[in-house]
This record gives sequence, structure tokens and C-alpha cells, in this order.
Amino acid sequence: MPGILEYIINRIADANAVSAKKLRKNYKKFSAQHIKDAEEFLDLYSVYLSSISKDIDYAAECYLKMTGDMFLERMRFLETGEYSNKLYKDVDEKIYSNPEIMDYHMHGLALGQFLWPDQYIRYRFFSDNLLKYEPVKSYLEIGGGHGLYVREAVKQLRDRSEFTVIDISQSSLNICENMSKGENVKFILKDIFDYHDSDKFDFITVGEVIEHLEDPLKLLKKIHSILNDNGTVYLTTPVNAPMIDHIYLFNNVNEIKELLHKAEFKIAEDVHAYSEDLPEALAIEHKIPLMYACFLKKV
Ligand SMILES: C[S@@+](CC[C@H](N)C(=O)[O-])C[C@H]1O[C@@H](n2cnc3c(N)ncnc32)[C@H](O)[C@@H]1O
Repeated sequence: MPGILEYIINRIADANAVSAKKLRKNYKKFSAQHIKDAEEFLDLYSVYLSSISKDIDYAAECYLKMTGDMFLERMRFLETGEYSNKLYKDVDEKIYSNPEIMDYHMHGLALGQFLWPDQYIRYRFFSDNLLKYEPVKSYLEIGGGHGLYVREAVKQLRDRSEFTVIDISQSSLNICENMSKGENVKFILKDIFDYHDSDKFDFITVGEVIEHLEDPLKLLKKIHSILNDNGTVYLTTPVNAPMIDHIYLFNNVNEIKELLHKAEFKIAEDVHAYSEDLPEALAIEHKIPLMYACFLKKV
């Protein structure tokens, strides 16, 4: 009997043989740890899906819709050199506040975390290194999305930390909350810029969020202001990665590093990976999306 990842790939193959061919090629290289992590998350995710009268086939359909959007965005991007959305208020109206789109988008992304090698690399980078940055008595995630990261943080820091997740989308919070059901996590439906609590945090995770903003530096400065002096930030953001909800284009990793520097952060450690298994020169030439992830400390 196939495991859940193989099952998902088979469902994707039923509708899109080309997309599944690449996923099968990826799958052959997955480590035993990768498959184990995927099964643990996706089994729990399936339980959540059945609680809302859906199943993993529905998630595979969502993945196909999301990758259909990605294909169109990429075509536009290669033609214009820009992301199609420029204004946060447009994305908020069209996507975050529109469950019809945001639901399939976030379910699709949840599967992407384990189907796409670069996404698994950033998850593993987080989970392998989080405990190095203890003590973490207060943990905040901005833009929790599908909930994979806060769930991992709770697994590792349970009983030693208080957890808060802020997200602007109810669709995201629905998944996120259910993936950490029964745990001591506070979920807040809010734009991070409207969060004015005086509490500071020991650890802040902000994965794949700054590219969703018109002014990522403004968020980095806000994060700096709510981080304890010895605190740590885990940040990830992509280069050349057109999506329906991306606004701010990073053309290379140096542009990300310059912004982090401007916000008075220093990089403790970082990692990057392209979304296609190509020689670097070719990946750069074809503007292949790149995932960048880092742990940050205050300067
Ligand atoms: C691509 S998902 C990232 C999910 C997850 N953090 C990860 O690393 O894969 C981006 C999330 O950020 C949320 N978001 C975008 N802008 C936000 C804002 N201004 N305040 C709070 N959440 C925001 C979106 O609703 C979405 O859930």
C-alpha cells in the first residue's frame, strides 16, 4: 500500500501527468526522515480534512489549482520581470479575505511543504536548529499559514514556552489552529501591523511573509522592536518566485541580506536552495525560484 505522499502524487498524476513526473523524480530522492516527517504531518492533516468533510484527494485538487496559478504567474513574470501584484490592499481583497481562493491556496501550500525539496530543506533547517536558540519562553509566528512551523515549535518547546500565532487570513488560521489542536497556542486574526501589544518575544518565526508586503523593511523593523535583545528570528523568503499573493520581488540573495542589515539584524546561519535541480548558472539564467532561510540576531 502506498504511503500518503505516494498516494498524493498518484492523485496529482490522474489530472496532470507532467507535474506528477517531476514529483515522482523528487520522491525517489527523499530521505527516510523526509518521508517520516511528511507522514506525521499529513496523517494529522488528513484527520483535520475529515473533520471539515474533505479528504486528501481534495487537498491534491487544491495543489493542482495552486500550481495552475503558479504557472500563469511565472509566464507573466518571465515576460515582464515583475510580480503581477503591486498593492497589499489588492491581495488582501482578492486573496486573504476570499476563502474561495485562500482555502485552496493554503491547502496546496501545505502539500508543497513536503512535495518540494526546497521547502522541506527550510523546514528541516528550522527543526534541526531551533533548540540551539533556547531559552525560548515566548514564541511568536507571523503568518502561520498551514501551521507546520508552529506545530514543530510546540513539539520541541512544549512546557517551556508560550506560543502565539498572528495571521491576517481566517482560512490560514483554520488550518493552523487545527494542526496544533489541544496545544497551548494563542491564535490572533490580525494584520501584523495592527498588533500593538507591548510584549516582547524570545523567538519570532516569519516564514514566507515579507515578500507579501509592499515594504518588507517596515515589517523587519517591527520584528526588531518586538524581539527581546537576546532573541532570535527565523526568517525565510524567496527570490524570483511569482505567486498570486507575492508583491515584493527579491532578485537575488544579496538584496535580502542588504534589507536584513538595514533592519539591524545579523545572520547567525543561513541556507538556500533552488526549486529545480539545475546547475547554479542555469538556475540564475532562467530565474528559477530560490528559497532563502536564516536565523537572525540583533546587531
Ligand atoms: C505563504 S504563507 C506562509 C506560511 C508559513 N509561514 C510558511 O512558512 O510556509 C503566508 C501567510 O502570511 C499571512 N500574511 C500575509 N500578510 C500578513 C500580514 N500583514 N499580517 C499577518 N499575516 C499575514 C498570510 O495570510 C499567509 O497565511
